[in-house]
Amino acid sequence: LALVERPRDLEGLTVVVSAGGTREPIDPVRFLGNRSSGRQGVAIARAAADRGATVTLVAAHLDANVHPDPRVEVISVGTADELGRAMDAIAPEADVIIMAAAVADYSVAAVSEQKLRKQDAPERLTLNLVENRDIVAGLVAARRAGQTVVAFAAETVEGEDELIERARTKIARKGVDLLAANAVGWTRGFETADNALTIVGRDGDVVASASGSKDDTAHALLDAILAIRSR
Ligand code: CTP
Ligand code: CA
Repeated sequence: LALVERPRDLEGLTVVVSAGGTREPIDPVRFLGNRSSGRQGVAIARAAADRGATVTLVAAHLDANVHPDPRVEVISVGTADELGRAMDAIAPEADVIIMAAAVADYSVAAVSEQKLRKQDAPERLTLNLVENRDIVAGLVAARRAGQTVVAFAAETVEGEDELIERARTKIARKGVDLLAANAVGWTRGFETADNALTIVGRDGDVVASASGSKDDTAHALLDAILAIRSR
């Protein structure tokens, strides 16, 4: 393991990172989740701390072997709604907000207070889902001068061109300053130490492409954030 001395170029900045996958309860023992391990967001938080930032991690579910750096303050949340409230509460303090969490797009309309039982249900069960609010859209709407807001997008795509196209469409819709896109699928993007990020800016330009360990891609993202902040 090579120890790299990092520049302390984030000294004086407060960075808030969300990470992991939210879990939407169905009943007291079940939830709707996703495959996010939290590894990339935790790596970003650590990288920012390495470079001198004051860092808060808003952590939805993290894989058991993913451990936030001890220098990072951790706020643990469960559902998309909890994540949204935590982000809204802490955002005013942040110079940089990075939404790496995989947020559930829908939650269960009527969460059962009792464990659902097969004998009470028909052979085919329908769960009614309601759309969750877009957390990052709220952060963008409340963004103050000097604050940088970054989103992520995990996309199932055929190749790099399609990934860039999706990223361009999404950044235009989201109004964030940067969007880091990565390709995912049944066999890629999750449960791995490595990642590849394509980072696009507000005008749809690819400002960086980074691949390697999630630490390497974390530092590349922080470099891109500093570059747009100094423009
Ligand atoms: N996000 C959010 N609130 C939500 C859903 C997503 O803040 N309710 C954030 C994610 O954390 C991510 C960014 O929005 O930083 C993009 O998430 P993504 O799922 O790719 O975008 P959606 O707008 O949900 O579009 P879709 O899933 O339909 O592609
Ligand atoms: Ca989504």
